[in-house]
Amino acid sequence: MTMGAPFDLAQTDKLLTTTRAVRKRLDLTRPVPRELVRECIEVATQAPAGGNVQRWRWVCVDDPDIKAGLADLYRRAYEPYIAMQREMVEQAGRGGVAGIISSSDHLAEVLQDVPTLVIPCGLDRVPAEGGGGTAQGYYGSLLPAVWSFMLAARSRGLGTAWTTLHLGYEREAGELLGIPDTVTQLALIPVAYYTGDDFKPGDRRDVDEVTYWNGWRRRET
Ligand SMILES: Cc1cc2nc3c(=O)[nH]c(=O)nc-3n(C[C@H](O)[C@H](O)[C@H](O)COP(=O)(O)O)c2cc1C
Repeated sequence: MTMGAPFDLAQTDKLLTTTRAVRKRLDLTRPVPRELVRECIEVATQAPAGGNVQRWRWVCVDDPDIKAGLADLYRRAYEPYIAMQREMVEQAGRGGVAGIISSSDHLAEVLQDVPTLVIPCGLDRVPAEGGGGTAQGYYGSLLPAVWSFMLAARSRGLGTAWTTLHLGYEREAGELLGIPDTVTQLALIPVAYYTGDDFKPGDRRDVDEVTYWNGWRRRET
């Protein structure tokens, strides 16, 4: 099937299938050079954007006081969120989620100590329904670059995790960083060298369960 592929598929597929949400294996003791973060952003800016508008900005934070402020906001949102998750796990007995909870707890505790926090931003607010533009077009022109950033980081030995909980306090985070209200913060990505040297593919739904051909829920034709 993939004979003659123009890339080394073993390598590219490994990158694509083992870029995990890294929380417990973030090395908090080793600074991340700004140049390396810049390099990842440079790779990320090759991602597609509608009309090639590139309305992204990347706010990188390595100042300890600002990181501490962001971590406080993250925890303020995290605590009620995780309490709800714990309750759901207890009721439904979803054992697999316990690992995610313990790893998420760890990240919430140490977020201020992660060497660099990156907040990718869009230069506009998300378009309201019925106005000009769609949310799909808006996010679709920004989020592929964020994932590219994470892939570029992973291939350089840096671990990342997509997080959004601080966005419950987007305005407060904006005040810490001087981000105008007209801008949308998209995520908060902790960036650190990872410890250990390997990651495995994650737990995902079967490809045939999620793939349809020629119509909704049609798997055969
Ligand atoms: C939109 C989005 C929001 C997320 N928000 C958070 C978050 O606030 N905190 C966190 O620890 N992980 C967050 N995650 C990470 C997910 O928990 C993680 O991607 C998922 O469990 C799969 O992890 P894996 O790739 O390591 O298997 C978020 C992921 C996405 C895509």
